[in-house]
Amino acid sequence: MSVVRAVVRGCGAYLPDNVVTNADLARRVDTSDEWIVSRTGIKQRHLVSGNEKTSDLALNAARAALDDAGLDAGDIDAIVLATTTPDETFPATATTVQAALGMTRGFAMDIQAVCSGFIFAMATANSYLITGQAETILVIGAETFSKILDWEDRTTCVLFGDGAGAVVLQSSPGSGTNADRGILVSKLHSDGRLHDALYVDGGPGSTQTTGFVRMQGREVFRHAVVNLTEIVREVLDEAGLGIDDVDWVVPHQANKRIIDGATKRLGLDPAKVVITVDHHANTSAASVPLALAEAVGDGRIKKGDLVLLEAMGGGFTWGANLVRW
Ligand code: UT7
Repeated sequence: MSVVRAVVRGCGAYLPDNVVTNADLARRVDTSDEWIVSRTGIKQRHLVSGNEKTSDLALNAARAALDDAGLDAGDIDAIVLATTTPDETFPATATTVQAALGMTRGFAMDIQAVCSGFIFAMATANSYLITGQAETILVIGAETFSKILDWEDRTTCVLFGDGAGAVVLQSSPGSGTNADRGILVSKLHSDGRLHDALYVDGGPGSTQTTGFVRMQGREVFRHAVVNLTEIVREVLDEAGLGIDDVDWVVPHQANKRIIDGATKRLGLDPAKVVITVDHHANTSAASVPLALAEAVGDGRIKKGDLVLLEAMGGGFTWGANLVRW
C-alpha cells in the first residue's frame, strides 16, 4: 500500500555561548555540584545572556537544519515551533523566525506542550505532510527556560538550560511498512488533572505576569518513569516491533535517573540511549532535537536506523515518535 511518509532531510542545533557550571550555581543558591550530579546527572547548562531570545536560538538551529538538508527558506511550506518561552505572548515565535529566514509564503505556528513540545510538533507536522497541506516543514524546539526560573528556588533553577534544535521534514512516498524512511508512528497524551505538579504561577490571563516554574519534583519523577516506559511500549506495539528492534532512543533530557529508570524497565540496552542531560541540562522542548542533532552529528544515528523520540512535560503531556532515519 503506498503511503506518504514524513522523512527527516536534515537536522541542526544551537546553544548559547554562556556555559554555567554547577559550581557557578553554588555561588548563587544553596546547592552543590555533588547534589546536582548525584540527583540529576547535570554538570553544566548553556544559558542566554544579554538580549538573546527564543527566536534567536530557533533561527540559528533552523539555519543549521536547512543547511544540513541542502534547502533554503524558499523551500519551506511551514514552520511548527515548540516552545514554552515565546518571545511575546503573541504573535507566535514561529512567525518571527519565518520573517528572519526571509520566508514570505506558507504558515508558521507555535506548539505548547512544555517539555513534550517537540514530540507534539513532530506529530503535528507529520499530519500536515500526510494530508498534503505542506510538503516541507521546519520543526523546531526552542527555549529560553532560564527566563521563567525563580533563581532563588534551588529546587528548580539548577535543573534547566537554554537551547534550540530543529529538523526538516519532507513528504516522500512510502510502502506502508516499517522499512519506510520517515515517521512510522506518533502517539500523544495529556492529563490536565496533574497541573499542580508542574506549572508556571503566572500568565497573561491570570496574573498578567509571566510567572515562574513551580514543581513537585518527586511527583513529576514518579509519573515520568511510568509514562515514558508506557509510551515507548505503546508506540512499539502499534508498529508491531519490540524494544530490540530500536537502534536509538532519544529521550527527553530531564534527569539521568529518570532516563535510567525507564531504560531498565524497558529492558533496553543503555548503549542505545542518547544522553545529553549532563552538558545541556533540561532544555524543555529543545532537549530532544538537541540530543538528536548531537547523535546525528557525531555519526551515531545513521540513515536507515530506527529512532525512538520520547518526552514528558507539564500538563502533564507525554508522547513519542518512532522514526526510520
Ligand atoms: O521535564 C519535566 C520536568 N521536570 C522533571 O523531570 C524533574 C523530575 N524530578 C526530579 O528530577 C527530581 O525529583 C529532583 C531532581 C527535582 C529532586 O530530586 P529528589 O531526589 O526527588 O530530591 P527531593 O526533592 O526529594 O529533595 C531531597 C532534598 C530536600 O531536602 P530535605 O527536605 O530532604 O532536607 C531538598 O530540599 O534535597 C534538597 N534539595 C537540594 N539540595 C541541594 C532540593 N534541591 C536542592 C539543590 N541543592 N538544588
